[in-house]
Amino acid sequence: MFKNVAFKLDAEIAHELTIKSMHLLGPWVNNTPTDPRFKLQAMGLNFKSPIGLAAGLDKNAAAINFLTYLPFSFIEVGTVTPLPQEGNPKPRLFRYIEEESLRNCMGFNNDGADAIVKNIQNSDRREKILGANLGKNKLTPNEQAQNDYATLYEKFAPHSDYLVINVSSPNTPGLRDLLGDIGLREIFQAVTEKRKNFYRPLLVKVSPDMNQDELTSVVNLVKEYELSGIIATNTTIMPDRGAGGISGKLLYENARNTRKFLLEQLKETPAIELIGVGGFSSYEDCLDFWKMGGRLIQLYSAFVFQGPKILHDIEKKLADDMTKKNIASFDEFRSSL
Ligand SMILES: Cc1cc2nc3c(=O)[nH]c(=O)nc-3n(C[C@H](O)[C@H](O)[C@H](O)COP(=O)(O)O)c2cc1C
Repeated sequence: MFKNVAFKLDAEIAHELTIKSMHLLGPWVNNTPTDPRFKLQAMGLNFKSPIGLAAGLDKNAAAINFLTYLPFSFIEVGTVTPLPQEGNPKPRLFRYIEEESLRNCMGFNNDGADAIVKNIQNSDRREKILGANLGKNKLTPNEQAQNDYATLYEKFAPHSDYLVINVSSPNTPGLRDLLGDIGLREIFQAVTEKRKNFYRPLLVKVSPDMNQDELTSVVNLVKEYELSGIIATNTTIMPDRGAGGISGKLLYENARNTRKFLLEQLKETPAIELIGVGGFSSYEDCLDFWKMGGRLIQLYSAFVFQGPKILHDIEKKLADDMTKKNIASFDEFRSSL
């Protein structure tokens, strides 16, 4: 019913209404227990299941109380920038309902680091894992981007379980240039300095529009700076559809190829986690990723189009498959595929 109403509204208004409702409902909902067989360890953290929420839905950490009630084992808030910023002019969020896809050119609209840290502090995380996705302010020149990321790491590390360096959004001019070796090295260097004082798992989120050489250079830097993992992928650009980044089913093939390539590259370094995101819309998509060697998965667009039903579907089918195979742990299940 909610979806029928929401899909008649402008996409961003529907999004804001959803976040506000979640914020209001938060204190009144009970946590659903997760099947204990789903748990897994990654990056030194204990996840209750392999399914989490991708960055961008709860940019301001305003709905943690509600989101942690859903069967997500981890929630990634942000992207947060050091200073508040409005993002790009509206309209900046569009739906392709038939294709279960979205196009957004939000541009890191958020309330800024200090307000978001307060929101996290005032939230009940219900023992779920909380990630913070970090981005630079639009007005910060690329040559100084490393300072934004280092400041954000320092502010968010004490309040989150893992952190993500996001330089792969197509909606901040020039941001993706930082995915090149020089920009990324400076950012990793600056954040690593802060990480020596306060250790948290640290990942980098990549773009599905990168070629294999560019991806290999990110992998090499991740190894060199001992990051904990890579998140693949952010949205893709499809200029014939208009400005911004495409997510959902239209992104799937592109993101899957990127993940496949990265998993091959990371085969010999199992301590480096690859979190899959981009176009997952069914249990079968998850199975495919687990077969390729991945484990943790984030959802965004499928959650918008299918609601919490997708989470319950994945959990039910996973539970049924584990029972059929008489398997009691997620890692054992994955090895059996
Ligand atoms: C409206 C919208 C806003 C987003 N904002 C962010 C963001 O702030 N930071 C980020 O790292 N990714 C952001 N993303 C990208 C998602 O985290 C995810 O990588 C992408 O949507 C692909 O997953 P999906 O196909 O399951 O949606 C956003 C996506 C959408 C649709």
